[in-house]
Amino acid sequence: MNKDQPHIRFLFNGKLQELFIDDESSISSQTTVLEWLRSLGSYYGVKEGCAEGDCGACTVVLGELIKGKIQYKAVTSCILFLPYLHGKHLITVEYLSSVDKGEYTLHPIQEILAKHNASQCGYCTPGIVMSLFSFYQNDKQKEDINTSLSGNLCRCTGYESIKNAAHEIVDWSEENEPEYKFDKDHLAVLKQIKGDHFFTTHYYQPQSLKEALKIKSEKPDFVIVAGATDMALLKTKKQKNIGDILDISHIEELKKVEKRKTYWEFGSGVNVEDLRLLIRNEWPDFKAVLDVFGSNQIRSVATLGGNIGSASPIGDLLPLLMVHQAQIIIQSSHQTRVESIESLIQDYRKTSLLAEEMITKIIIPIDKGWIYWSEKVSKRRQLDISSVLASFAFRLTKDRKIGAVVLAYGGMAAIPKRASKTEAFLLGKPFVEESFLEAAEIINHDYKPLSDVRSSQKARILLASNLLKKFYYQNQ
Ligand SMILES: Cc1cc2nc3c(=O)[nH]c(=O)nc-3n(C[C@H](O)[C@H](O)[C@H](O)COP(=O)(O)OP(=O)(O)OC[C@H]3O[C@@H](n4cnc5c(N)ncnc54)[C@H](O)[C@@H]3O)c2cc1C
Ligand code: FES
Ligand code: FES
Repeated sequence: MNKDQPHIRFLFNGKLQELFIDDESSISSQTTVLEWLRSLGSYYGVKEGCAEGDCGACTVVLGELIKGKIQYKAVTSCILFLPYLHGKHLITVEYLSSVDKGEYTLHPIQEILAKHNASQCGYCTPGIVMSLFSFYQNDKQKEDINTSLSGNLCRCTGYESIKNAAHEIVDWSEENEPEYKFDKDHLAVLKQIKGDHFFTTHYYQPQSLKEALKIKSEKPDFVIVAGATDMALLKTKKQKNIGDILDISHIEELKKVEKRKTYWEFGSGVNVEDLRLLIRNEWPDFKAVLDVFGSNQIRSVATLGGNIGSASPIGDLLPLLMVHQAQIIIQSSHQTRVESIESLIQDYRKTSLLAEEMITKIIIPIDKGWIYWSEKVSKRRQLDISSVLASFAFRLTKDRKIGAVVLAYGGMAAIPKRASKTEAFLLGKPFVEESFLEAAEIINHDYKPLSDVRSSQKARILLASNLLKKFYYQNQ
């Protein structure tokens, strides 16, 4: 570890930027990218709306070196800590246009938005421009327009004109090679700075798993941060200092994905968007949930390990991982062990992880004999947390009886939990409507959910019952 390098080094709008952080600096490792940009005095395109990743007004684009190429993703800068930028290219809306003697030259994306009158207040527009810029850089298709814009709120002009502009951007980009995509200068700089270490007394950003496990065993109080989409809210919403941080977001080993004959193996640092794209064709139940998990900006940063580690009752992946009987691989510097989601998640936001341990892999068996199904119910279709999430797996016998069943719900208890009484009732019953109508009446013996702003207790029970019936009607 090079102890002379407490710098964060990244490209900022095409130029190398170094930020020195120590106890005397005006910025810390928990300064958000948005806070830093606004403090510079000339980057006002990026706005603070909600400061919790919900509105998209602070959207910027990050270029990241992946398999020798720069890949671009839109992210919310309000919940991104500065060290995340290390080795990446930060692009703000100011980079897209240029001004010479008072004359502006707009990026074609901005021109198309203006042509469609897709901007009114101006507050949310830079964020929308950046989302569409990342969309365009990624060669996305027309069917991806809604998903790409789901993290940007516009409350005035309505989305129709923005979507019309997005359609024109797809047509236009088919004829125009994205100009930054193959920028050789950027590529060379990113290659050079990618492997550098960044650390301070209170923040470690290891590049290898071995190093991370060593730090965790020597400093078990260091809090693990991956995408920070949960952790950053402690700072931005609760004004808490997170404490000393072990940032695992730069460990390549944790981002690996392997598909074997009988299972998928995902590193815990795989982000939710990559997971969505990889398995949407194989498991429609994952697709149903991941398509409405947060927004594009959140999914591009949020990790699989972070969803498990947060042990939230409404962590959307947890019921799915339960029914797919995923194995969670947990490592410390001296041992590796395996847990199921049921044994790992012990109580409200409490896991069985020891202070020196971390989640490193998630193994999901490929077993074609099951019928999988899931549905997330929330107050808003996109970018909302679950009121109730149902995830089911059924295996039928040759004479169409229920040979095996797993029913897991999120939002119904302090932790995602299986409906064990309902499962016991269904086991061995014929796969017919009557079995499901009766089973739906038993759900209320499995759960005593809370009433809160998302839903009342009564509505949650009704939702859980109706989702079971819906599964049957869709699969009969
Ligand atoms: C606007 C917004 C929308 C969201 N929408 C959804 C949604 O629709 N569905 C949903 O389920 N969640 C949602 N979330 C919550 C969050 O995005 C997810 O839980 C995400 O998967 C967390 O991953 P992360 O990498 O950002 O975790 P972090 O914030 O980095 O960490 C979360 C927790 O996990 C621990 N942790 C992280 N990685 C590991 C590891 N490898 N080993 C051990 N512990 C670890 C951390 O210590 C921390 O306690 C949303 C959040 C925001 C801000
Ligand atoms: S300020 Fe709302 S998403 Fe960042
Ligand atoms: S243009 Fe800002 S809310 Fe619609």
